[in-house]
Amino acid sequence: MKDKILIIGAGGQIGTELTEALRQIYGVDQVIASDIRENIEVPNYLKVDVTDRAALFECVRANGVSQIYHLAAILSARGEQNPLWAWNINMTGLINVLEAGRELKLDRIFVPSTIAVFGIDYDRENTGQFEPLIPETVYGISKVAGESWCNYYFKNYGLDVRSVRYPGIIGYKSMPGGGTTDYAVDIYHQAVQGFNFVSFLNKGTILPMMYMDDAIRATIELMQTPAERVKIRTSYNIAGCSFAPEDVTQAIQKFFPHFQTTYVPDFRQTIADLWPKRIDDSRAREDWNWHAKYDLELMTADMIKHLAIKYQH
Ligand code: SER
Repeated sequence: MKDKILIIGAGGQIGTELTEALRQIYGVDQVIASDIRENIEVPNYLKVDVTDRAALFECVRANGVSQIYHLAAILSARGEQNPLWAWNINMTGLINVLEAGRELKLDRIFVPSTIAVFGIDYDRENTGQFEPLIPETVYGISKVAGESWCNYYFKNYGLDVRSVRYPGIIGYKSMPGGGTTDYAVDIYHQAVQGFNFVSFLNKGTILPMMYMDDAIRATIELMQTPAERVKIRTSYNIAGCSFAPEDVTQAIQKFFPHFQTTYVPDFRQTIADLWPKRIDDSRAREDWNWHAKYDLELMTADMIKHLAIKYQH
């Protein structure tokens, strides 16, 4: 039987690009884009609220879905504005997806986690796979619980759930929303339009980041790995490159020498200060051959090239 894929959160930063990438592999008919928004201008789109269990089950049944990519979540910064609301969406959504997987016997499910699972009392300089997970944001708490639920469904019900801990994701096609790493996308948009940038994170705030191409490739490569090689069923550390706001500023200045960043940290600084600086992703490399391609320089060149075209029009 052919794979029939449902993407939940297809209108979001990663969902937008993952939908395109999966459609190139499987075809538009085999990949349903869904989101909570009413109208998104992509073909084969369905409005689905993942917190509505009956609606999700109906969508999976009616369309013969065999795989779900569950990307809908409230991220770190937005979650802190309304913790119980964020917890409810993140956890109810996840449990509904896992229950659909179990009851409707889906082949495979992807659920992303995040660097926000780390918080206190771990090695921030080079964060390994099995460091303590003591997050201090509601987003991080929901993802730690989520990783454990994924592992639980795998162990107890044999559900083939897979996950990576995304770093901050940077791409030119779609905008992030409500995250702490979002500055690293916005900075390119400002620079290419000829503006200077005000950073809500301070100088010296090194965080793990990843170019969108790498993030999409990691997701699809993990999902295409034979099940017996996917040894970690909580979530895999994956690394791209690490940098602070002044590093990306310098990389941009090679293209726009007059570009300047000023630093006005806000509440998101407190969140960033809890997170890793660098990620050790050796388990992903060993188990499924993961390897990032983009460093800060390559990513910057590609971002500027594409955004320049976008803003010309
Ligand atoms: N990009 C996310 C955030 O900033 C981290 O996973 O919340």
